[in-house]
Amino acid sequence: MQKTYVITGSTSGIGKAVLNKLAANSDNFIFAGYRNESKLPDVIPDNIKYFYIDMTDRKTIVKAAEFIKLQTNHIDTLINVAGNVVAGPIEKIDTDRLRTQFDVNTFSHIEFTQNLMGILDEAKIINVSSMASFGNFPFVSPYCASKRALDIFFNALELENHKKLKIISVKPGVIATPIWEKSVEANLEYLTNYNDYEKELEFVKNNALKNTKKGLPVSKVADLIIKIDKKKNPKSSYTIGNDAKFSQILSLLPQKFVNKIIKFGMKYRMKL
Ligand SMILES: NC(=O)c1ccc[n+]([C@@H]2O[C@H](COP(=O)([O-])OP(=O)(O)OC[C@H]3O[C@@H](n4cnc5c(N)ncnc54)[C@H](OP(=O)(O)O)[C@@H]3O)[C@@H](O)[C@H]2O)c1
Repeated sequence: MQKTYVITGSTSGIGKAVLNKLAANSDNFIFAGYRNESKLPDVIPDNIKYFYIDMTDRKTIVKAAEFIKLQTNHIDTLINVAGNVVAGPIEKIDTDRLRTQFDVNTFSHIEFTQNLMGILDEAKIINVSSMASFGNFPFVSPYCASKRALDIFFNALELENHKKLKIISVKPGVIATPIWEKSVEANLEYLTNYNDYEKELEFVKNNALKNTKKGLPVSKVADLIIKIDKKKNPKSSYTIGNDAKFSQILSLLPQKFVNKIIKFGMKYRMKL
């Protein structure tokens, strides 16, 4: 039976790995979102149709949904993957940068889903959230908050809608993808220029660069998403990686206690 998928963020990391796994099954047809044409493969398989989408530009989001709706009247699974990281100390951060973070990681996914709603009856919506959604990472609070908000908004959609949608939040820990290097590059100015936080920001930056290599292989998340897609009754949330499971446990404890653990952990690791 042919299944129709829509995926954003399909030109790198987790999205690309999921797209490749889906496309390997010729019964699947996939609409795949890109923002940078130079990242498209030279040879595009018959069962992939790429569409342009920039998560910071409402017009392209609406246009992308229109493009898909012209070609199909049903989506089996929508996989919202596109995302980036805004970092920096909350005391100093420019609130326009906070807004951009929510535009890319939260609002764009809501807007895209809203525009596809007419062809999402009984569909699964798999959101690539993050362990950051549990909220315990200093200096990347914009990212944490955007992922938490994503989870809250989409959970509301599951509670409210009459379409039998199944909403699933996948919360990976550290995965070895280009996002880490990209995040250091995009936030470099904000990770270096604050004297009060010099040591901490240096740690955050170096840690991010290490994560590019020490994270779980991207295939693990892709396999989990494929497995979730096959489930008749998936759970509403999945963590992947010991770090994500630990973050989930921490989130159940009193905040004051959690903050002590995090501050201690950071101090200890900064000395290593
Ligand atoms: N890697 C991790 O450790 C980790 C952990 C937890 C959650 N996640 C989440 O997993 C998702 C995928 O991240 P990844 O690690 O695979 O990173 P990645 O390799 O950088 O992939 C991110 C994807 O999102 C796209 N994207 C970013 N900003 C966009 C915009 N404004 N408009 C359209 N597309 C945009 C990127 O396009 P380009 O290819 O053009 O750059 C890319 O395809 C993200 O939502 C991220 O928050 C990652």
